[in-house]
Amino acid sequence: MKIIAYGARIDEIPYMQQWAKETGNTLTIHEELLDASTVDWAKGYEGVNALQTTPYSAEVFAKLHEFGIHYLAVRNVGTDNIDLAAAAANDVKISNVPAYSPAAIAEFAVTLTLQVLRRVGEVAARLQADDYDGATKFIGRELGQQTVGVIGAGRIGRTAIRIFEGFGAKVQAYDPYPVTDQDHLIDYVGLDELLRTSDVIDLHIPGIPANTHIIDSAAIASMKPNAVLINTARGNLVDTEAMVAALREHRLAGAGIDTYEHETADLLTLSKEGRFHDPLWDELLAMPNVVLTPHIAYYTETAVHNMVYFSLQHLVDFLTTGTTSTEVKRT
Ligand code: NAD
Ligand code: COI
Repeated sequence: MKIIAYGARIDEIPYMQQWAKETGNTLTIHEELLDASTVDWAKGYEGVNALQTTPYSAEVFAKLHEFGIHYLAVRNVGTDNIDLAAAAANDVKISNVPAYSPAAIAEFAVTLTLQVLRRVGEVAARLQADDYDGATKFIGRELGQQTVGVIGAGRIGRTAIRIFEGFGAKVQAYDPYPVTDQDHLIDYVGLDELLRTSDVIDLHIPGIPANTHIIDSAAIASMKPNAVLINTARGNLVDTEAMVAALREHRLAGAGIDTYEHETADLLTLSKEGRFHDPLWDELLAMPNVVLTPHIAYYTETAVHNMVYFSLQHLVDFLTTGTTSTEVKRT
């Protein structure tokens, strides 16, 4: 089979080359993202593999249709950046990798939580300023003594719940589609109650338009005065201006943000030099009670291996059977 891969990161390329060697397929690898300026490279290929958080536009799908390409297998979970209507209109089927490693993201959410609760950033900032005495003054909170509210109890949320429970935290969750698992009972509550009663609020929901700014100024105002907000899901879930105002006014104790509302491809380009510039980002970066990371919660050896191998297998399934287990259906 003849496949073209876009958005390949340096750490993915060895896995891609290994996969091509093992399966005997032709795989052409590009580091550039799939957009209107690069889609022409796909001409002559049977299937497309890609990874990006920037949009997969209607223009891209029209071109794929023109080239007779019917399959796009993305290497990640989120599909909020794909124009699914345009894909369907152009007979392009999409697959994602819903579970390349839920633990990668869940563990990272817990890592951010612990860092904020134990005030590691504040201690480090004092040491950086040569204020060794000041660095000893940040008393922390134990995770086992907190109530953690997980919004979205899907694959990643449920994994996070188990880890939080392992630390002894009281965990409650909100999900409009609760899953009942006799081996793991989850304490589901309403969203308002979760916001009002949690010490830590941890987001694991998709960035679909209906979820935009689910954490807005009213949601933040209803939180406990010492609450901590953790977002490793999607930037659009949080009204960042409202969050920054609350952090400034000490109405939130801190935040752990891996997915920033105004992120662009620059923030995600691990293989290239440069600095991401944005006024709100810079303000967050300067806050010692905020842990800011550039959308790397997924970034583990296990996850990267699985993103490459699983997505390419989905493309082979598509090309041999016309479908695959992770085909993304429009809802
Ligand atoms: P999932 O589909 O298994 O679970 C999502 C859950 O959210 C579902 O149970 C759904 O019912 C629930 N949900 C949807 N809207 C909700 C709302 N308004 N309130 C409460 N619950 C709601 O998805 P997942 O694998 O757990 O992934 C969750 C998200 O994590 C992805 O959509 C993606 O945006 C993000 N993600 C981030 C990274 C990263 O590196 N930072 C990596 C992978 C995934
Ligand atoms: C996802 O898998 O949805 C992510 O957020 C990871 C990122 C590399 C796109």
